[in-house]
Amino acid sequence: MSRIRVAVVGCGNVAVNFHVPAYRALPETYEIVGLADPTPERLEIGREAAGLRPEQVHTDVADLLARDDVDVIDVCTPQHLHRDLVLAAAVTGKHVLVEKPIAAVPADAAEMVRAARRAGVVLAVMHNYLFFPEVVALRALIDSGEIGEVRTVTVDMQGVVDSPGAAGYRPEWRKDPAASGGGVLMDMLHGVYLAEHLLGAPIDAVDAWVDAAEGDAVESLALCRVHAGRRVGMVNVGWGLGQGGVAVNASQGRAVAHYREDGTMPWAPFERLTVTTETGTRTVDLPAGQELGPLIADAMRDTVADVAAAISGDGSPVADGAAADRILQATVAAYASAATGRVVTLPLPVDGALHRRGVVGLADSDVPTDSALRTLGLYGLTRKDA
Ligand SMILES: NC(=O)c1ccc[n+]([C@@H]2O[C@H](COP(=O)([O-])OP(=O)(O)OC[C@H]3O[C@@H](n4cnc5c(N)ncnc54)[C@H](O)[C@@H]3O)[C@@H](O)[C@H]2O)c1
Repeated sequence: MSRIRVAVVGCGNVAVNFHVPAYRALPETYEIVGLADPTPERLEIGREAAGLRPEQVHTDVADLLARDDVDVIDVCTPQHLHRDLVLAAAVTGKHVLVEKPIAAVPADAAEMVRAARRAGVVLAVMHNYLFFPEVVALRALIDSGEIGEVRTVTVDMQGVVDSPGAAGYRPEWRKDPAASGGGVLMDMLHGVYLAEHLLGAPIDAVDAWVDAAEGDAVESLALCRVHAGRRVGMVNVGWGLGQGGVAVNASQGRAVAHYREDGTMPWAPFERLTVTTETGTRTVDLPAGQELGPLIADAMRDTVADVAAAISGDGSPVADGAAADRILQATVAAYASAATGRVVTLPLPVDGALHRRGVVGLADSDVPTDSALRTLGLYGLTRKDA
């Protein structure tokens, strides 16, 4: 089979540090044939990393999309820009891999899913933490039946490092709710899809609480409960030095993934996976955990391999557009719950402000006058008397 020709759009941190190396790690499957980024210095950094000639890279994405020697577009821009790029790629019949979150706004995600279906192209989303070895082992353990029926899953990520975007573009875009769609929870919605994956059923309702650092327009801490029928996940995400870990509690036992010094993955490497049943506690035999760089690199290599299989007609990608849309909706629902104090059910109504505008749609929603989020000034909410 001939190699899949991929072009990367957006040459920021994630593209240069991880996506380009992921494709280069699979030289028999992929060939990087192009890049696009309107920021010249980022384009040049990307060009060097990918080893491309100047005529293969573009400051205008339209020039890249007009090429007929590209099979897949890999969108690595901030999420508020994903929709237009994905729609434009799909129209030209190119398959798409897009970074997480699929979009900042659920309506954008839905449009992307429809466009890919119409064009008959694969729409895959980079939910790379699904490929972490301990996550794969946890899912296999649950499937084996050893610990019985899953009841609760806890994903603790309260020690997330607050990293800026690439210098040369907008390093602080993650703190702008119109660009990011939310704060640490949106950035680390990895925790939401991990919880759903381990619960083994789609999230159907969410309730949450958030808090923020003084002066920030997005949350720095989010404690969420995601419901999937009678199963419940707790997803706790925060910037700082809080605790990390993943625990699955089931009818006949539990499984717990531990990370270095109780830290948060992927900054703290995986240490051990323990399984406790009536017969005692054992440690699952897994390779030593990796530091962040090689861990993410391997998980992205495995993700793009999965995308290659989907493009070759071997089933859907592990995270397709529809799954990623649901995870995005669950994340936006967490913000709505934190603002209103109510449990928010999924799917979000398509004619509602949250679906159409994401977290900034809260400003047009029924948020109580005494909501703490108004006092904090999050997501464009203001005090009612202001
Ligand atoms: N899966 C993961 O583990 C992971 C890790 C980091 C980031 N991400 C995601 O990757 C995306 C990018 O994050 P980042 O940290 O690399 O951001 P970044 O700020 O480092 O880079 C963004 C890049 O996009 C470029 N860009 C802006 N507008 C563009 C356009 N219209 N067309 C093409 N390029 C454009 C900028 O010039 C910049 O080079 C985000 O959606 C983020 O959530 C995922």
